[in-house]
Amino acid sequence: MSNRNKDGIVIHTDKKDFEGMRKAGQIAAECLDFIAPYVKPGVTTEYLDDLCAGFIKEKGVVSACIGYHGYPKYTCISINHEICHGIPSPERKLLDGEILNIDVTVIADGWHGDTSRMYYAGKPSVKAKRLCDVTYECLMRGIEAVKPGAYFGDIGAVIEEIAHHYGYSVVDMFCGHGLGKVFHDEPNVMHCGKKGTGPRIEEGMFFTIEPMINFGKKEATILANEWTAVTKDRSLSAQFEHSLGVTSTGAEIFTLSPKGMDKPPYNE
Ligand code: MF3
Ligand code: CO
Ligand code: CO
Repeated sequence: MSNRNKDGIVIHTDKKDFEGMRKAGQIAAECLDFIAPYVKPGVTTEYLDDLCAGFIKEKGVVSACIGYHGYPKYTCISINHEICHGIPSPERKLLDGEILNIDVTVIADGWHGDTSRMYYAGKPSVKAKRLCDVTYECLMRGIEAVKPGAYFGDIGAVIEEIAHHYGYSVVDMFCGHGLGKVFHDEPNVMHCGKKGTGPRIEEGMFFTIEPMINFGKKEATILANEWTAVTKDRSLSAQFEHSLGVTSTGAEIFTLSPKGMDKPPYNE
């Protein structure tokens, strides 16, 4: 059973909906665990996409990305100054020190599990590693702001405060989103804003938080492939994403890594 509230946001009242999201979220998270040892200098992003596609197929689920508004691949892989929606390519080999986001969304029994993490190809610079660490903190502190009665603006406010503290900027061209049986649903979850603004958070809502944090300015442009967003100033950008459900006391994260591999480094 589910219905939409006055803000048009779906409220899930059936325990089975949480079970469905848990299963989808866990498979997406397992895919991100699975790919970690393959991320190294010299491999192409298409190779990583192929491996994820194989994993997804083996699990008996499907990628929500391929064919979505014509998107051509199973995952999004965004390197360095690419903010999001990087398209895996046979021409693009990873170089030592590059940082990349791998974003996986699977559909399991109709439910969407959407999650992304940063990865290092070889050894990142101190500067790149710090950006990734802070972006992960932004995500987790944003999730801590989630509880019934809080406001969506509370999430953006805490993310923005942390990012600005380090002199970074928050991308506002893309948002987190409601999800469930639908991939991108109400509400838009902003990663900046003011406390106490926006819709109220209620038990039974499902949505993502997926802050994109830039080392330089927040402005983004879309490449000629019509998908990939990059920083206008070509500064580094990082992102982490979890799918979550609002419980009576806070948030259940559906996409936590079963192996504790929620942030890099993954192999030390
Ligand atoms: N997974 C992305 C998100 O977090 C969306 C990717 S859509 C695609 O919302 F078509 F680019 F795959
Ligand atoms: Co998402
Ligand atoms: Co995603």
